[in-house]
Amino acid sequence: MGALKNKHLIGLEHTPAKDIQKLIDTGFTFREVLDRPIKKVPSLTGKNIVNLFFENSTRTRISFELAEKRLSADVTNFSASASSVSKGEGLKDTVQNIHAMKMDCAVMRHPVPGSCLQLSKFVDAVVINAGDGTHEHPTQALLDMMSIKEKFGKLKGLKIAIVGDIIHSRVALSNIYGLQKMGAKVTLCGPPHLIPRGIHELGVSVNTDIDEVIEWADALNVLRIQRERMGVGIIPSVREYRDFFGITQERLDTHKKEIVIMHPGPMNRGVEIDSSVADGDQAIILDQVLNGVAIRMSILYLLLGPDEGEKS
Ligand code: CP
Repeated sequence: MGALKNKHLIGLEHTPAKDIQKLIDTGFTFREVLDRPIKKVPSLTGKNIVNLFFENSTRTRISFELAEKRLSADVTNFSASASSVSKGEGLKDTVQNIHAMKMDCAVMRHPVPGSCLQLSKFVDAVVINAGDGTHEHPTQALLDMMSIKEKFGKLKGLKIAIVGDIIHSRVALSNIYGLQKMGAKVTLCGPPHLIPRGIHELGVSVNTDIDEVIEWADALNVLRIQRERMGVGIIPSVREYRDFFGITQERLDTHKKEIVIMHPGPMNRGVEIDSSVADGDQAIILDQVLNGVAIRMSILYLLLGPDEGEKS
């Protein structure tokens, strides 16, 4: 058996709990490496990794590149806007060309749900999903869980609320799968029309009263409200959203309780979260960013490291 059950990391829906545990535990080992004066290890020397970004990214792209370099892999970066995709070349041709260059691993962000699974069928290389449309963002959920574990020392039994635009969020779906597999309780909160019908079938609760949710939760994972959707009837106004669901200091102060605040970024300060909260003592948003490098080192190491040849 290899280090993990699956050859690829497409999502957490089909990742066993014991593999999530191993990924998080190994993430903490690499966190120690990141605290050393020399933050580089030779684990992936000789491995070729391509980062395929067909959609914008700041944190995930930089974090993967840094993780790959910290593991001594050879790194190639590809962004759709600077490639022949802009001349009409399709995903299959692009990927086959890259495969012909004998890559060991492709990290891909793509706007189309299911594109990473599709990619894994075209190539022998290990495929890691860096966010596929509204489907999954497994590496974000793993870094979120690592950050929660770092803060509380456990995941099992914790009460985690995910707040905001759930229906369009790949972060929400991956967190729902991952957190519940690790024994946490999950409540979703947001405008009713931004919560998918039937989502309770995944085992989560839904509560549209943010104050009740704050009272209940150990941690809030606050999602970005997509400004591009405003003005088309999805979010009536920034001010209205902030009044009903915004995580403001005033709102937190009325509850007089400790609560951990998370956000995957990018943040709309003054909309879903106020600056005083994002930069305050309860927020672990920058810990999430640092843990993002460590968890991506863990993922790359466990998928491409010494046991890789034994995987099915
Ligand atoms: N959290 C996240 O995926 O951020 P980016 O879009 O900047 O990668």
